[in-house]
Amino acid sequence: MSKILVTGGCGYIGSHTIVDLADHGFDVISADNLSRGFGEMNERVSKLLEKSIQNYPVDLSDAAATRTLFEANPDIEGIIHFAAYKSVPESVEAPLMYYKNNIGSLVNILECAREFGVKNVVFSSSCSVYGNADTLPVTETAPLKEAESPYAATKQMGEQICADFVKGNPGYKVVILRYFNPVGAHESTLIGEMNQRPENLVPIVTQTAIGIRAEMTVFGNDYDTRDGSCVRDYIHVMDIAHAHTLALQKSIDNALPKDCEVFNLGTGEGVTVLELIQAFESVSGLKLNYNIGPRRAGDVIKVYADNTKARTQLGWQPKYDITAMMQTAWSWEQALAKEAVR
Ligand code: WQD
Repeated sequence: MSKILVTGGCGYIGSHTIVDLADHGFDVISADNLSRGFGEMNERVSKLLEKSIQNYPVDLSDAAATRTLFEANPDIEGIIHFAAYKSVPESVEAPLMYYKNNIGSLVNILECAREFGVKNVVFSSSCSVYGNADTLPVTETAPLKEAESPYAATKQMGEQICADFVKGNPGYKVVILRYFNPVGAHESTLIGEMNQRPENLVPIVTQTAIGIRAEMTVFGNDYDTRDGSCVRDYIHVMDIAHAHTLALQKSIDNALPKDCEVFNLGTGEGVTVLELIQAFESVSGLKLNYNIGPRRAGDVIKVYADNTKARTQLGWQPKYDITAMMQTAWSWEQALAKEAVR
């Protein structure tokens, strides 16, 4: 049974990916220093899988600490590297913290991969590398625009680091996955997005609906889109998770054309903010309390994926539509309220 190291395994996408990996026969360990992740998520994942998943609370930007993790697990066959800070506004406030953590941890992980002979790496990237793409749907060959934030810059640099690592280390492979907008939760409602003060849309919608927030603001309805609000490609977190399992297996099987491949992970459908709210209202049966406010600085107007490459080369097929995404996000918020976790 191949042992896989998931860094950031106590985070939103990391925890859901651990579940999908384990469901598909992989032996998984997690490394998460809980600076952003939640230790409780590890307990929840273990409960969901009915087996304990070990988390190593390692600061991956510390080279020596990262090394001890690999010394303790010489049988690691693959790494999925999620661990990173990912708040756009925070990255603007504290760029050096972002470069030190996001770039430092990636470099340490790749150095250990080389030293310990781990030849299969999956790197968590983001559609934010595209910025405001000139043509839509956006393909993996689209030119990368200037990063809109230090966070996006760490993803662009991270991809370059992965490509250069592979060039300099024959036999090593890195699969780069560019997520569009991950949303929703595992159907069990045992795991989901845990964030007391989210900045992203869907948890703000569900927190408004459940009453944690009195109301929410739609950041602008005067864009050049079908209803004036921004367009995004929302993708269910379990579809994202499964793409990682497929990518890892293809890497282990040496079944990808090049040693460093990039894939878009989106449904290929653009959905506006107002359409998402309408989908949520029909799923929940609630009227959401929102107002229309000014545009948010740095927002991309429209972005959605061409996911042909992931569908053909990874055999990936997103299963969840926007209704199912809203249903699982809402079920998760309601489950949290019941547990009064907050
Ligand atoms: C989506 C839309 C907002 C909140 C971010 C990161 C990106 C990636 C995905 C990590 C926008 C609107 C939001 C609100 C609103 N993260 N909105 N009211 O900005 O597309 O991408 O998450 O990889 O790097 O930047 O996601 O959910 O913040 O915004 O109207 O209270 O919802 O203006 O149009 P975004 P988001």
